[in-house]
Parts: sequence; C-alpha cells; structure tokens
Amino acid sequence: MKKIALTMTVALAATCCFGFDYVKDAAKNSLPYEPKMQEFKLPNGIDENGVIDEKILGDSPFAKTVIFGSKLVNETSRYLGPNAKDEKKRFAGNNYSCSSCHTYGGVVPNHSPFVGIYARFPQYNSRADQVVTLQDRINGCFQHSMAGKPIPNNSKEMRAMVTYMQWLSTGYGVGDRVKGQGILKAELLDRAADPVKGKEIYAQKCASCHGENGEGVVNAEFEKGGDYYLFPSLWEKDSYNTGAGMYRLIKAAEYIKSTMPKGDETLSWEDSFDVAAYINSHERPIKSDREKDFPDLDIKPMDMDVAPYNDGFDEKTHRFGPYQQMIKR
Ligand code: HEC
Ligand code: HEC
Repeated sequence: MKKIALTMTVALAATCCFGFDYVKDAAKNSLPYEPKMQEFKLPNGIDENGVIDEKILGDSPFAKTVIFGSKLVNETSRYLGPNAKDEKKRFAGNNYSCSSCHTYGGVVPNHSPFVGIYARFPQYNSRADQVVTLQDRINGCFQHSMAGKPIPNNSKEMRAMVTYMQWLSTGYGVGDRVKGQGILKAELLDRAADPVKGKEIYAQKCASCHGENGEGVVNAEFEKGGDYYLFPSLWEKDSYNTGAGMYRLIKAAEYIKSTMPKGDETLSWEDSFDVAAYINSHERPIKSDREKDFPDLDIKPMDMDVAPYNDGFDEKTHRFGPYQQMIKR
C-alpha cells in the first residue's frame, strides 16, 4: 500500500513539477515597460521584394552603408561565404544568404523580418541565458544557420548589416513590437512527428524547387549578380548546422508553416511537423558543444535534441515529440 502511494507521488511529480516552465520563461523575458504593438511598415525607398531604390536613398555615407548592408544580407555568399574573393572574409560556412530564410532581406511579415528589429534589441536570449545585442544575434545566425564563425563587431560588414536593419526600423520607438515579427507559433501535435509521412509531403510539395535530394538549385546568373541559390539546399554539406534553430523540430515546423511552399503557404501543422522531421533526418554540418546551450533547463526549448534535461524524457522524444507531456503544469 505504502509502495503504491509512493509510486503515485513520483508519477504525479513527473507531470506536475518538471518540464518547460512557461511562467518562468515569461518572467525571464519580461520588461520594465509595456511594449507597444505597431503596424508592419517598410521605410520609403525599398519595395516588398527587398529591392532598394538608390535614387530615393541618395549617396550619403549612411545611404551607401544601408545599400551595402542590403547586399550583404541578400548576397551573403558573394561577400562572406566559403568562396568569397577576400579569403579573410570567409565567415559563413555555407553558400546561403540571410535571405535564404529571412525572405528578400527581411521585408516579409511572418518570414522572420528585420523590420522594426532595431527597436527590440538588446533582449534576453535563452540560448546564452543573458541579454544579447543585435550584433550578438546576427552572429548567432552566422555560427548556426550559416554554419560559420562570428564576424567582428567592428568590421565594416557588421556595421553595414546593423545600419540596414536600423533603417528598416525607421519610425519604430525603442521597445516597440511589430505585427508580423518572427514566425507563427506552433500548434503542437499530440503525436510524434513522422519523417516517413514527411518524405511523401516533401516529394509532392517541396522537391520541385529544393530538389529530390534537397540539393537546391544554384542561380545560373550568380556570376552576373544576385543570390548564389535560386532555391536553397536543405541538407548535406551546404546547409545550416545541427546548432541552428531550423534543426529543432518545432522551430522548423513554425518556419515551414509560415513560409513554405513558397507562394502557397497552405500546409497544415501536421504536414509542417512531418516534413520538418524528414528534412532534419538527413546529415548536415555538426555543431559541437551543444550541451552547453540553454543552461537554464527550466526554459530549455522542448525540441532541443541534446541533453541535459530536467524532465526525464530522452533525446529522441525531444527531437520528434510529442511535446505536451514536457510542459510543466
Ligand atoms: C537557415 C535559416 C537562416 C539563415 C540562413 C539565417 N537565419 Fe537568422 N534566423 C533564423 C531563424 C529560424 C530565426 C528565429 C526566428 C524566430 O524564432 O522568430 C532567426 C533569427 C534572426 C534574428 C532575430 C530575429 C528576431 O525577430 O528577433 C536576426 C537578427 C537574424 N536571424 C539575422 C540573420 C542574419 C544577419 C543572417 C545572415 C548572415 C541570418 N539571420 C541567416 C534562420 C536563419
Ligand atoms: C516555389 C519554390 C519553392 C517551393 C515549392 C518550396 N520552397 Fe522552400 N524555399 C524557396 C525559396 C526561394 C527559399 C528562400 C527563402 C524565400 O525566398 O522565402 C526557400 C527556403 C526554404 C527554407 C529555409 C532555407 C533553408 O535552406 O533551410 C526551408 C527550410 C524550406 N524552404 C523548406 C521547404 C519545404 C519543407 C517545402 C515544401 C513544403 C518548400 N520549402 C517548398 C522556394 C520553395
């Protein structure tokens, strides 16, 4: 009798007191003011495809820096990729550009845009468990999404990217939030994601652009200007590494649901999770030392596939779900 009671308490404890803590997460992200929600708005001089009208911007040092920053985010591989002309500038480890994910250089709502971003940094970051600057956040994508190394804060390239982002944030007050910032928030499934189902969805809805083997399509006009990829590769050597947000299932499903298939963003959450599981079942560059990311285990993302955890679930369950059972109640 005593023994049964004890097992029950343990089982109860597992569902009540451990796992992802939304209350603590909100507290750690809280601010000493109430942020204002603003409409999504592009500054004068750039269109919804991210094309800048240089006549409107003029040729002041500030305008030239904005234009250079726009080139860096839209044609990153040309300036900072593994084959960049200047060997000292080969910071990215793959041939992506920032716009491989931040569509058209960050001007599309719900496609992780850069509009208004300058107003919401510095901010708390759970991966580092400290407040980070916009430069730190850019370097987060260099080290993971771009599978590379950080670019110095005092380089002309970092200054230009930050200047471009500040210009895209014209008119927003410090602390403001923007409708359409980030990507959609997931509706969690009540089952684990299924890479076998994901493979079928991939063949039907993704392979036409990203290639049967996820190899992507290189832009034939690259030498004459423009982005290296017409359609970015999704796995193997030339892709984001295992430390990227895109390698985590919930984040990848959120990204895919928000943005893909490009031009027809109609996937269900189920299909988004399954196809994300399929994409991330392939090999890609490996990021080491990931057990040190998200040191506060109470708010470590549920889709991190590397231990330690505080909830007793193994790495495979964290990788594919189901997730509801990992939420602290
Ligand atoms: C493989 C995809 C990918 C690539 C390539 C990529 N990023 Fe990101 N980036 C993401 C994802 C995913 C997020 C998180 C979005 C979210 O959770 O709202 C993000 C977030 C960011 C943020 C914070 C956004 C915010 O609203 O807080 C910045 C800044 C950023 N990236 C800059 C860059 C820059 C600059 C580059 C190019 C050097 C780049 N990223 C390349 C996927 C990518
Ligand atoms: C019509 C062409 C097209 C189709 C179909 C398409 N994509 Fe994409 N995809 C793109 C382009 C172009 C980008 C670059 C970002 C942008 O322009 O929005 C991209 C970017 C991505 C990225 C981020 C970049 C990277 O390399 O990781 C992922 C992930 C992705 N697509 C997954 C998918 C999935 C999954 C499907 C099917 C459900 C799909 N895409 C269907 C064109 C397409």
